[in-house]
Amino acid sequence: MKLAFCTVAPVKLVLFLVISINFNNSPVSANFFPNITSIPHSLIPNTTIWESFHNLTGCHKGVKSQGLPKLKKYFQFFGYLNNSYTNFSDDFDEYLESAVKSYQLNFNLNVTGQLDAPTLNHIVLPRCGNADIVNGTSIMRSGKSPNTYSANSTIHTVAHYSFFPDRPRWPPGTTQLTYAFLPENQLSDAVKGVFSRAFERWSEVTAFTFVETASFYDADLKIAFFGGDHGDGEPFDGVMGTLAHAFAPPAGRFHLDGDENWVIDGNFLGAAASVAAVDLESVAVHEIGHLLGLGHSSVEEAIMYPTISSSTRKVELANDDIMGIQELYGSNQNYNGSGQTLTPIGERDTSGAPRLDNLWGSGIVLVLGLLFFG
Ligand SMILES: *[C@@H]1O[C@H](CO)[C@@H](O)[C@H](O)[C@H]1NC(C)=O
Ligand SMILES: *[C@@H]1O[C@H](CO)[C@@H](O)[C@H](O)[C@H]1NC(C)=O
Ligand SMILES: *[C@@H]1O[C@H](CO)[C@@H](O)[C@H](O)[C@H]1NC(C)=O
Ligand SMILES: *[C@@H]1O[C@H](CO)[C@@H](O)[C@H](O)[C@H]1NC(C)=O
Ligand SMILES: *[C@@H]1O[C@H](CO)[C@@H](O)[C@H](O)[C@H]1NC(C)=O
Ligand SMILES: *[C@@H]1O[C@H](CO)[C@@H](O)[C@H](O)[C@H]1NC(C)=O
Ligand SMILES: *[C@@H]1O[C@H](CO)[C@@H](O)[C@H](O)[C@H]1NC(C)=O
Ligand SMILES: *[C@@H]1O[C@H](CO)[C@@H](O)[C@H](O)[C@H]1NC(C)=O
Ligand SMILES: *[C@@H]1O[C@H](CO)[C@@H](O)[C@H](O)[C@H]1NC(C)=O
Ligand SMILES: [Zn+2]
Ligand SMILES: [Zn+2]
Repeated sequence: MKLAFCTVAPVKLVLFLVISINFNNSPVSANFFPNITSIPHSLIPNTTIWESFHNLTGCHKGVKSQGLPKLKKYFQFFGYLNNSYTNFSDDFDEYLESAVKSYQLNFNLNVTGQLDAPTLNHIVLPRCGNADIVNGTSIMRSGKSPNTYSANSTIHTVAHYSFFPDRPRWPPGTTQLTYAFLPENQLSDAVKGVFSRAFERWSEVTAFTFVETASFYDADLKIAFFGGDHGDGEPFDGVMGTLAHAFAPPAGRFHLDGDENWVIDGNFLGAAASVAAVDLESVAVHEIGHLLGLGHSSVEEAIMYPTISSSTRKVELANDDIMGIQELYGSNQNYNGSGQTLTPIGERDTSGAPRLDNLWGSGIVLVLGLLFFG
């Protein structure tokens, strides 16, 4: 990033090199493991870049800290600082304070505007790469209605599902969506089966059926594993950090970070706390919600909540998810709300949840934009 402030011509050269290297590396053959014990120790990072945010504990408006520029980029990536914000200095300014407050509101934290320990513990969690705030409007419900915030845990009974701006959705009457896997990823049947189960969670509560098709380019939903920068302005960041992202209807693009340690069997009972492992099905269920038009929710039990601790399984749609998707499309006539899909907490195992995270690498997008198009 420091390069960006040198003279322009050499920077262009350097960045071009970086880009072409990244493009040649994508798509990747992703890391899949049948279970958590089969992940080799060499793939478990000792420390990661978001983790360094912990050293900002206690920072508040008016102070300076060397770690703040990176935190500002994090907040801009997820929409808490808008794209006009360019002051990536060490200063904790009013805009950063405002960003911290919005974040705290969205994640049901005390709205202090300060980088207290509970806030930083949350900021470092692995999460979905989709922004929480789009075009300056919080798409997480608690951000829309500040008055609903309270320390009262009954807040979680309130619906907080959201949609993308302008509520894009698949055309009325659509009942079948096809999906395909990027051929270069050469996924095994076991991995494809995980996605099939994830789609099933949503077809239970909607009129959609999801059918695999061989033609990637004709499919409605295109599933691909990539490493690092893969050409859509939303680069992945290595182990932990952002895990995946998906685009609103009708784009249908669903990208997963090939550098994660993806676990297939979803059994994390007894998992070591330090294992940076991600449950593939949990992430797939979340991202399919985006493909169908849901945004993030501030209900922690909801599938559409943005963060998930590593070595955690969370695959059951919560009431909040079901209410959201049925508001967009209506319900599945065969779905009788029997409660089988309404048990969000039971399956979650947060016992061994570490606070790992990693490389954050999206600031370069802004710089590229300025250099090439500015
Ligand atoms: C985990 O997967 C490995 C490799 O397939 C296998 O040898 C081992 O038995 C599995 N362990 C468990 C607990 O399922
Ligand atoms: C983590 O640290 C240990 C001991 O310091 C080292 O052997 C190991 O290679 C490190 N792991 C990674 C992924 O760097
Ligand atoms: C926090 O960590 C970052 C990255 O390691 C470093 O640049 C920064 O100087 C640290 N800040 C403080 C206050 O120690
Ligand atoms: C973006 O943030 C800047 C402050 O950095 C503010 O002045 C401006 O009004 C914001 N623009 C929008 C569209 O929200
Ligand atoms: C960045 O913000 C700080 C604090 O508000 C201010 O002192 C500084 O001049 C700003 N820098 C730029 C380049 O706007
Ligand atoms: C919020 O503040 C209250 C009172 O200071 C405290 O008891 C509670 O633990 C805080 N909650 C969080 C999530 O930090
Ligand atoms: C954000 O706003 C701009 C200008 O109004 C618009 O062109 C763009 O499509 C919007 N982006 C999203 C994701 O809504
Ligand atoms: C929390 O919610 C309960 C049940 O609705 C209510 O009785 C209680 O007064 C609330 N407490 C606060 C602090 O709002
Ligand atoms: C809902 O559907 C399930 C599965 O088809 C069935 O077992 C259950 O009895 C139904 N419940 C009601 C209330 O109709
Ligand atoms: Zn998401
Ligand atoms: Zn992508």
